[in-house]
Amino acid sequence: MSRDTITIALTKGRILKETLPLLAAAGIEPAEDIQTSRKLLFASNRDQVRLLVLRGSDVPTYVRHGVADMGIAGKDILLENNGAGLYELLDLGIARCRLMTAGLVGQAQPVGRIVVATKFVNIARRFMAERGQQADIVKLYGAMELAPLMGLADLIVDIVDSGNTLKANGLEPRELIAGISSRLVVNRASLKMKHQPVQALVESLAAVVAAPAP
Ligand code: PRP
Repeated sequence: MSRDTITIALTKGRILKETLPLLAAAGIEPAEDIQTSRKLLFASNRDQVRLLVLRGSDVPTYVRHGVADMGIAGKDILLENNGAGLYELLDLGIARCRLMTAGLVGQAQPVGRIVVATKFVNIARRFMAERGQQADIVKLYGAMELAPLMGLADLIVDIVDSGNTLKANGLEPRELIAGISSRLVVNRASLKMKHQPVQALVESLAAVVAAPAP
């Protein structure tokens, strides 16, 4: 591995599916089938580019520590994990969805302190504080939509895409917290120390994103 090798941390799942065509258009293809392999570190068709496949919430950590020079992660993850040590250089416009509050259909919000269930505890805490709404935040790791139905919480903060999961669980969207899409983040030191290859890659991805859809 040369000093100019670039390591890119990718987010597995839906984001990965939408990332691969962007990378391919920028001239980077994994050396093997990244979506079916159980491996987590991949060579690519470019000698000096390798790819990691991570849980989205781990991408900022790998990039912050410089283990990956750059990464692709949802804005929800970046908002939750604070972007310290990272430059967010590009909105890739993929995996678009909304981060919202949601509650039981037709149920008025209780007066006073409320309970909010979410895996986005930092975002939820900030949002409630900005609203001047007193709230206890309950951390969950998934299936947030069950919480209001089961009386664990008055509201949830979660990703909404089609809205089908909310609907199927008797919930309705309430307030929009943020529009979400995947972002390219770069380690600050890598941008200085590996300026030429990092900048070249950022520019090719920027060109792909700016190009009209085929
Ligand atoms: C996300 C989110 C919702 C669902 C929303 O979960 O947490 O449950 O998608 O999508 P919809 O509005 O189209 O129904 P995901 O399936 O990504 O799994 P996760 O709980 O692991 O995040």
